[in-house]
Amino acid sequence: MPATRSVKTLIVYDSVYGNTEKIAKAIGDSIAGSKVLRAYEADYSALKEFDLIIVGSPTHGGRLTEAVKDFLGKIPANSLGNTCVASFDTRASAEGVFMKALINFFGYAAGRIADSLKSKGGLLVAAPEGFILTYSHL
Ligand SMILES: Cc1cc2nc3c(=O)[nH]c(=O)nc-3n(C[C@H](O)[C@H](O)[C@H](O)COP(=O)(O)O)c2cc1C
Repeated sequence: MPATRSVKTLIVYDSVYGNTEKIAKAIGDSIAGSKVLRAYEADYSALKEFDLIIVGSPTHGGRLTEAVKDFLGKIPANSLGNTCVASFDTRASAEGVFMKALINFFGYAAGRIADSLKSKGGLLVAAPEGFILTYSHL
């Protein structure tokens, strides 16, 4: 029987109220042997050790949080060398046409994270995913 090797996976996230953390940990629980780290704990110079890097952030003003931005900003351009990457965010459940339009206008964190990971040489293996809060602080 051929030897199998698990996919070395790193999940990096930020969370203010705990929702993004729950998603990050649930993803981690579903991938055997994965490592789940908060963005400020993650060592951007050791990313080449991983086969798959998943980055998640709460959406704040259509963008990622400072901690995730900081983590991504420190990864040197083209350093991911075709490492598989994916992204997710958490976002508000907008009520009403106006709020929906406003939130859509500003956009979401996951697409921006994916763009950043791709710009570092990452190979996007899944469409950016958004998880909608059933209760929102907005
Ligand atoms: C300052 C602030 C700005 C926010 N901006 C947006 C936004 O632009 N779009 C959106 O869908 N949700 C927005 N939200 C709701 C957050 O996405 C939500 O609080 C977050 O997903 C919760 O994740 P956490 O529990 O991991 O912190 C905002 C929340 C805060 C506190």
